[in-house]
Amino acid sequence: MRKIITFGTLKGGTGKSTTVFSTAGILAERGYRVLIVDVDPQANITSNLGIDETVGGYLGIKELFEDERIHPEKAIIKGPINELPSLDIIGASMGLTSTEMRIISYPGREYLLKKYFRKYSSTFNNYDYIIFDTNPSMSIINQNSFVVSDAIVIVSDIGINALKGLELFVALWEDIVDRLDIDNNIKGLLINKYNLRSSISKEFVEYCQEEEDIRRLLFHSFIPADERISECELSRKPLNLIYKNSEVCDRYNAFIDELISRV
Ligand SMILES: Nc1ncnc2c1ncn2[C@@H]1O[C@H](COP(=O)(O)OP(=O)(O)O)[C@@H](O)[C@H]1O
Ligand SMILES: [Mg+2]
Repeated sequence: MRKIITFGTLKGGTGKSTTVFSTAGILAERGYRVLIVDVDPQANITSNLGIDETVGGYLGIKELFEDERIHPEKAIIKGPINELPSLDIIGASMGLTSTEMRIISYPGREYLLKKYFRKYSSTFNNYDYIIFDTNPSMSIINQNSFVVSDAIVIVSDIGINALKGLELFVALWEDIVDRLDIDNNIKGLLINKYNLRSSISKEFVEYCQEEEDIRRLLFHSFIPADERISECELSRKPLNLIYKNSEVCDRYNAFIDELISRV
């Protein structure tokens, strides 16, 4: 069964994009067919995969949002990483911010993507996992990816601002879910940039484990702070291709085992 997962929170820099990149890379290596959908106007993953959104004729998620007649196959870039042929992407572009302004007045504006995915289910059903990367906001574009998802996974780094970002996200999404009369699909919380030697990291995790609402979402595998993650961005290859035998890659694999069993 095809599963759609969105990574989000309301704080920037927590590791959403790197988590999408590593997760998609590992799932593809395990033989799953994976589609990344980048809905962040900053287009980090899109450019990490060496895709140039400025070339003429570029079609990405912006164009699909704005014209449902465009077939997704036209926007899907197949196998941008040679070693992982089952990993595809629909890219983002800076112009997505103007799309946001445009769709804000559409009737059923939160359901545009859901409708689009249904219309082109024969394409989207070709994938085992579809993974969305979002920016830290409750934009209508992000809400579209949350609505179409089987699971939302919150990515948090350590500290008080991370906590605020995560608690605000949960509260806002609960409100929206209530208003739209749909099920709450937040299925997990991944802690990233964990530092074994730092007391703040320990206190942060303790707090998350004490709060019942947070604890039930927590993945047992935390992702350590590790320079190798930043190197992946530079080398444009996911963790499992360049640092397969590292602690941080093991942690990601353990997280993905949990993720698969949860969604
Ligand atoms: N576990 C980690 N250890 C070290 N650096 C990390 C880790 N996760 C992310 N980073 C770095 O933190 C920065 C922000 O990560 P990014 O994934 O772009 O965050 P977001 O998409 O949430 O804004 C990037 O420079 C990235 O390389
Ligand atoms: Mg990002």
